[in-house]
Amino acid sequence: MQISKAMSDLMNAQIGNELGASNQYLQLSAYFDGQALKKLAELFKKQAEEEREHAMKFFDHLNEVGAPVNIPAIAAPKYDVASAEEAFKMAVDWEKEVTRQIYAMVDLSITEKDYASQNFLQWFVAEQVEEVSSMENYLAVVQRAGEKNLLMLEAYFSHQ
Ligand SMILES: [Fe+2]
Ligand SMILES: [Fe+2]
Repeated sequence: MQISKAMSDLMNAQIGNELGASNQYLQLSAYFDGQALKKLAELFKKQAEEEREHAMKFFDHLNEVGAPVNIPAIAAPKYDVASAEEAFKMAVDWEKEVTRQIYAMVDLSITEKDYASQNFLQWFVAEQVEEVSSMENYLAVVQRAGEKNLLMLEAYFSHQ
């Protein structure tokens, strides 16, 4: 295998983290669907698909470098969401957490002079900047609109 055991462990854990994010976003999609907020439901469903693609990038990469794939147990998502604001706050926190996880792998790649992993991880570094930024923007819009004006958000997100 072309990567260290430590790197392979982190990348396998990340498959679980990305799938966990995917499940959490699916759960949020169901929450908004239950509120008859179809555009918000769609937004999180699309986000869930993206997180699954992220998991697949790690899956494919581990196979490519000849490292073992061990998909970890995935914790259940949080089911109780009290408001749209809480949903978006959770999403922002989650994206920041994923950024820390990606940075931990980049740190290891630098320590190990593992330039191939470093190169692979750069895509995720850029992706996380975008993900944190868009979720923070959405949260700001949700907070400005307020819970009573969620229908305005539907209009807003239909133009996104
Ligand atoms: Fe992701
Ligand atoms: Fe994400």
